Amino acid sequence: MEIRDFSSDYRLLAQQIEALIEGETDEMAVLSNVSAALHDAFPQRFFWVGFYMVRHGELLLGPFQGPVACYHIAYNQGVCGAAWAQNETLIVPDVELFPGHIACSSLSRSEIVVPIHDARGEVRGVIDIDSTDLDAFGEEDKTGLEKIAEIVASQLY
Ligand code: SME
Repeated sequence: MEIRDFSSDYRLLAQQIEALIEGETDEMAVLSNVSAALHDAFPQRFFWVGFYMVRHGELLLGPFQGPVACYHIAYNQGVCGAAWAQNETLIVPDVELFPGHIACSSLSRSEIVVPIHDARGEVRGVIDIDSTDLDAFGEEDKTGLEKIAEIVASQLY
């Protein structure tokens, strides 16, 4: 992978997303535009970017950009369910080495999943991003996406 500093890209993106969703409280509308903004910011790096939201005790597919994906993910299943269960960001440099990884596309090689919290700090959903490159995600993605997850959460209630 090319070594690049993404922190300034994320700072700009966070400002753009804050402006983009200001005043809109409908969850589907907000998540739809945020998934588009995330994909537009890193179209080469983000092969699949979208949301899974907690519904009836499982994760349900939300707005996304990229190939079709599975609808339901159980608690502690796959990378998304594990990030929910552990209530923390998970970076998976090689999805084939992650036990229980759910392969929505055989082209996905690495993944980052970032929880979105409710006011009590419980997980109400996750941002899921896949790359076709191995080891595509690092600390700058974690920091940048956790900030964006906070911005999104603050707009949802
Ligand atoms: N790979 C994810 C499933 C969702 S797709 O990547 C869009 C997982 O293991 O949870």
